[in-house]
Amino acid sequence: MFISFEGIDGSGKSTQAKLLVKKLEEKDRKVLFLREPGGTEISEQIRNILLNKKNLKMTQITELLLFSASRAQLVSEVIKPALLNNIVVISDRYVDSTTVYQGHGRGLHQGGIKGINSIATMGVMPKKTFFIDITIQEMYTRRKESHQEIDRMEMSNDDFFNRVRQGYLDLAKEEPGRFVTIDGKESIETIHQQIWSVVDGMLPVHST
Ligand code: ADP
Ligand code: TYD
Repeated sequence: MFISFEGIDGSGKSTQAKLLVKKLEEKDRKVLFLREPGGTEISEQIRNILLNKKNLKMTQITELLLFSASRAQLVSEVIKPALLNNIVVISDRYVDSTTVYQGHGRGLHQGGIKGINSIATMGVMPKKTFFIDITIQEMYTRRKESHQEIDRMEMSNDDFFNRVRQGYLDLAKEEPGRFVTIDGKESIETIHQQIWSVVDGMLPVHST
């Protein structure tokens, strides 16, 4: 089973993904936790290029292809083998991030992105995607509180992040069977319970 987490930066994806991993492990499930871009040696190297603030000359097409290259490596090297071994794969971001950040955000051609996405994923798609929704204002508040240095992607402006958020809202409407939209302003525990109630209901019967 493959589950992804999506949302704008600071929405609480990693917090929730980690809580879900912990819960699944408590239930004796074999789980693999990944984050994108990254998750393999090559993908982590690509991540460094993508997020390095010095790489201001990076074109939008280069950005699209690098996120996709990182994903192609991750799918082949890690995700496919794990799924074949009945391991539950939880990913902090996946292909929807490319659709909304490079598509809605940067404004690259959606048809072209669809093609590149299907090459990079080789058709491997999450069964459920939790979209944790917060406002851009909330993103800035959390960013300020975290005192973390911003990366190249986070240097983008308000309009960019508004388009990205709208992109997620649109995707969630287009694919209501896969997406579960969650109000990211709820407490960490409330959100975890909402996520767990969905995942618990879809787990395959335990075979060990
Ligand atoms: P993301 O992975 O989406 O960037 P994180 O999980 O790293 O987000 O969370 C970003 C910040 O927001 C962290 O400081 C985290 O503790 C905080 N946070 C996460 N979920 C919530 C929540 N539901 N309410 C308030 N703050 C939260
Ligand atoms: P990261 O620090 O991993 O995520 P977050 O900010 O959610 O904690 O940064 C990854 C950045 O890359 C984030 O700004 C989203 C962006 N991104 C894309 O633009 N396209 C993609 O395909 C992916 C996977 C991420």
